[in-house]
Order: sequence, then C-alpha cells, then structure tokens
Amino acid sequence: MPAFANYYNTTMKKQAIGVFDSGIGGLTILRALHHTLPHENFIYFGDTANVPYGGKSKAAVTRLATAVAQFLETQNVKLIVVACNTASAHALPTLSKRLRVPVMGVILPGAQAAVGATHNRKIAVLGTQGTVQSQAYVKAIKKLNNQMRVVQQACPLFVPLAEEGFAKKPAAELIAREYLAPVQKSGADTVILGCTHYPILKKLIGRILGPKIHLVDSAQTLAQAAKNFLQTHRLAAQTGCGTLKFYASDEPQKFSQSAQKLLGEKIAKATLKKLTP
Ligand code: DGL
Repeated sequence: MPAFANYYNTTMKKQAIGVFDSGIGGLTILRALHHTLPHENFIYFGDTANVPYGGKSKAAVTRLATAVAQFLETQNVKLIVVACNTASAHALPTLSKRLRVPVMGVILPGAQAAVGATHNRKIAVLGTQGTVQSQAYVKAIKKLNNQMRVVQQACPLFVPLAEEGFAKKPAAELIAREYLAPVQKSGADTVILGCTHYPILKKLIGRILGPKIHLVDSAQTLAQAAKNFLQTHRLAAQTGCGTLKFYASDEPQKFSQSAQKLLGEKIAKATLKKLTP
C-alpha cells in the first residue's frame, strides 16, 4: 500500500492544474500561477462563448461554470482554479460539491489578504455586479473577523476598458474617479481588486486612491494559496518547465492573440472546445 500511495502521488504531481474564466481576464491569474509555480502544467479554459459572466444570474453562472469545470475534470487535472471572481462568488459551493477534483476560488484568498492588511478594519471590494450582489467577499471577510467594515463598489465598465486596452486613456481615469469616489469617502485603507480584469487597471486605481491605500490583487493571493495547497497535499511538481495549454469555447484565434498580448510570451494556439451547459 505505501508503494501504491507513492506511485499515486508521483503520478498526480505530474497532472496539470485546470484554470478557467469567462474569457481572457483569468489570464492575469494564470500569469501569477505560472510565475509562482513554474514546474506546473496548466490547462486554461476561456469561456469566450459566454463572456461576460459579471451581469448574469447566479443560476446562469453556476450552470456555465459547472460545464467548464466538468470538462477540465475530464482532462485529468489535479486541481481546478476558478480564476473568475463572479464564478467563484456564485458557483464555488456547487462546484466543490459536484466535482471529484479539489477546487479553489479567488474569494477566500482575497478576503484573507485584506483582513491581514487592513489597519483600520475598513475594507472596500471592487467587483462585477454579480460579485457585489452575491456578497461573497463580505461574508468571507466577516467570517474571518466580524469586526471588519466592508463597502462594495460594482465597476462594470472596468472590464471593457481593460479588454480594449484603455487602461492608460483619459476615459479610464474619468470612469475610475467616478467609481472610486465612494471608496475614498468610506475611509477604507484596503481595497480588494475583486475581478480578474482589475489588476490591468491597478496602476490607475493606485494612483487615484493614493499610496496609503493597500490594494489586494486577487491574482497574487490566489497563486500563493494554490502553492500552499499543493505543498500541503504533496501534489506540487518539483522539476521541469511547466507547459500551458489553452481552450476557448468560441473564437480561439482571437483568444490566442489576446492571451499572447496579456502574458507577454508566445503561446500554443488555443483549441476550440464548444460546451453544452
Ligand atoms: N472574470 C470576471 C470576474 O472576475 C470578469 C469578466 C466577466 O464579467 O466575465 O468577475
């Protein structure tokens, strides 16, 4: 039995990690994961046929996320990372129940990082409408420490601004100032960038809020949490150069171009994989 356990563990170490998002946004998380876990192989799924998830109902997001996660499960992954805040907020409990593979979302690592960083116990959460409505960050933060005061701000226009490469344009600044005014008023000293696209706007958000405000980047916190998980469960790959494989549910060429731009490296072409949620 110990010999079998050893074999099982060695085999699992070599299996890939499945990562998914509604589209390209989760690549900010893949980039952090790849950087933090350079020996791991990753399979990334962008549900480009159904993007955006941000304004969809809990039932719809759960249905879509389940279909993607089940596909990744068929790819024999050892861990699934839900690299989408909206999907993590709406669907993580359902996915954890339905899947055989361990699944990890962005909400808890982000909440933990924010609770650890705040000095005045006031935290602001920036997210999509779905993430804000779900109250997932509020619940996770209060569960960690119910003394915390949490304000939320939905920033739906940040996603198209990031996707269109408008992060440095005056329009982005105007919109960001509008969204961030209530956050500044709230007195929060810690702000969670609770959406895959917001790290792309991190410089702008940081400049508007000022250097005293701590920004929690869900990409970095999740990558660290995934590393801890793999090490604790002795599933981390120890050697070799990790590979990246991509699937998209629509327009794989367009996805590949955006992915290459965002990751800053030449990548394997994405494969089209249509799902029927
Ligand atoms: N990936 C989504 C999130 O992190 C943003 C894009 C979308 O609305 O699908 O919430």
